[in-house]
This record gives sequence, C-alpha cells and structure tokens, in this order.
Amino acid sequence: MDGHKTKQMSVTLKIAVQKSGRLTEESLRLLKECGISIENGNDRLKAVARNFPVEVLYLRNADIPQYVEDGVADIAILGENVIIEKCRDIQIIEHLGFSKCRLSMAIPKGIEYPGSEYFNGKRIATSYTNSLNGYLKKKNILAEVHEISGSVEIAPNIGLSDAICDLVSTGSTLFSNGLKEVDVVLKSQACLVSGKELPEETQKILDKLLFRIRAVLASRNNRYILLNSPDDAIHEISRILPGIKSPTIMPLVEKGWSSMHSVISETDFWNVIDQLKAAGAQGILVLPIEKMVV
Ligand code: PRP
Repeated sequence: MDGHKTKQMSVTLKIAVQKSGRLTEESLRLLKECGISIENGNDRLKAVARNFPVEVLYLRNADIPQYVEDGVADIAILGENVIIEKCRDIQIIEHLGFSKCRLSMAIPKGIEYPGSEYFNGKRIATSYTNSLNGYLKKKNILAEVHEISGSVEIAPNIGLSDAICDLVSTGSTLFSNGLKEVDVVLKSQACLVSGKELPEETQKILDKLLFRIRAVLASRNNRYILLNSPDDAIHEISRILPGIKSPTIMPLVEKGWSSMHSVISETDFWNVIDQLKAAGAQGILVLPIEKMVV
C-alpha cells in the first residue's frame, strides 16, 4: 500500500523547453504565470517544480522533437518552424501566441525581385532544408540548397549563396546584412506539443497544466472594461460588449446612470471604442486581467 502510494506521488510530467534562445524566457514565464515555481540553478539541465508535479528538461531546440517523439519528454514548448522542419510524430496541443516569426526567403537588397522564379538555378543557404525543399517543390523551382547550421544571413556577403531562407522576426538581422525579405515560406509561433499517448496519471497532470495555460492565455488576450452609461443606453452597450455571459450593471449614485463591467478581447477594443462613445458611454477604463477561467 505504502509502495503504491509512493509510486503514485512520484508521477511527474516531463516538459522540454529550449535551453537558451528565443523561446526560453517566455516559456519559463508562462510556467511561472501558471503558478509553477522552478528552481533554475545555473547550468542545470533538469529542474523539478516545487509545487506542481512537473519536471523541466532544458534541451537544444533542434533536439526537442526527437525527445518528444521518443517519450524522453512528455510534452514540450517548441517553435512551429522546428515542428514542421523536423517532421516528427508529434502533435500540437495548443498555440501559445508568443515568439511569432516567419521563415522567409531573402535576397541582397540591391537586386530586383521578379517573383519566385528568381530562385531558379540559384544557390540558397538555410538551416531549414526540409521546409525550403517543400517551398521549392511547391513553386516548381530547381535551386541548389546549401545547408548551414548558423549565421545564415552572412552567406550572400561571403559569396556562399545568392539567397537565404531563414527566420525573420523584427527584420533587423536581414537589414544589417544588406538583405531584403521577398517571400514567406511559413509563419511560426510557440506551441505546446505532445508525443505518444500518455499514461493516465501523466495525462491528468497535463490536463491540469492545460487548464492553467488556457486561463493565462485567455487573460493575455482579454481586458476588463468598465464604463458609465446612461440607463437608456444599457441595452445598446450590452449589444456592443456582450462579455463572457453578459455585462454586470451597478447603479451610480447619480440618478439615471449605471456602471457597466464587461470583458473585451484586446484586438476588438479599438474597433468598438467609437461605437461605445456614440452610444453614450463615458469614463471608460480598460484593465489587464490576471487570470481568466471561462
Ligand atoms: C533567428 C535568425 C536570425 C534572427 C532574426 O535566429 O536566424 O538570426 O533570428 O531575427 P530578427 O528578424 O528579429 O533580426 P535565432 O535567434 O532564432 O537563433 P539561431 O541563430 O539559432 O537561428
């Protein structure tokens, strides 16, 4: 009985995150916002959370798909670009909305770009050979693909290639290397991925973690909105701001006026602000939401 209890208590969900790179900070921040405290000692490759049955494995980005497929890690936070490039048997459970970037084709900025036929017969440097080959095949282009593992942007400057296919986020690396983006191969963001079916106890931990992750993501995408409304505009403003179920309405001390509280998606706010003002709303406040469970 005791042995059984010990075994049950020791079940953990192993989650792989990028050891160092564009996803690391935001991945750890997401876990922290899910209430998971990780002791991240210097140079540690593995850390156990103090207050949630999760073990974090810090791994090289390019190795993570294989580890997830093999079951060394149960789940991982990974860029969609790596998932597509590595073609492993892993599934996306949730798009996480951070580390947005694109895998793009770029050429020296002084060259006129006539369209993707430009790449016919050209030498293209990349670390993403599978994704690039897929793009070339789709466009019916014959080109020479040169695989290099880093500093791809320098390839045209040193005469190694005529073009590159690499990740672009702000575009500043392309700019400082005299290149321009001419086509997008794929768009990417951080995703939560899983491999094979998990044992029941591990799946239960994943379900709890997913519940928390979804609450954090919903709070990031939504805002709490408060405003004062003439009573005869409540119906119209409720139509504009339906909220999760419907807005909360509280009377103001001043007769004929109410305070309305609701939730609005961040992207919708600027679209509806003029409608709210036209309907008679005043004193509009928009606040961040810490966590949101719908
Ligand atoms: C990518 C890419 C560029 C840079 C582009 O590298 O290879 O170097 O980001 O970003 P920017 O458009 O904001 O300048 P990453 O940081 O992912 O590391 P890597 O060198 O390991 O690919």
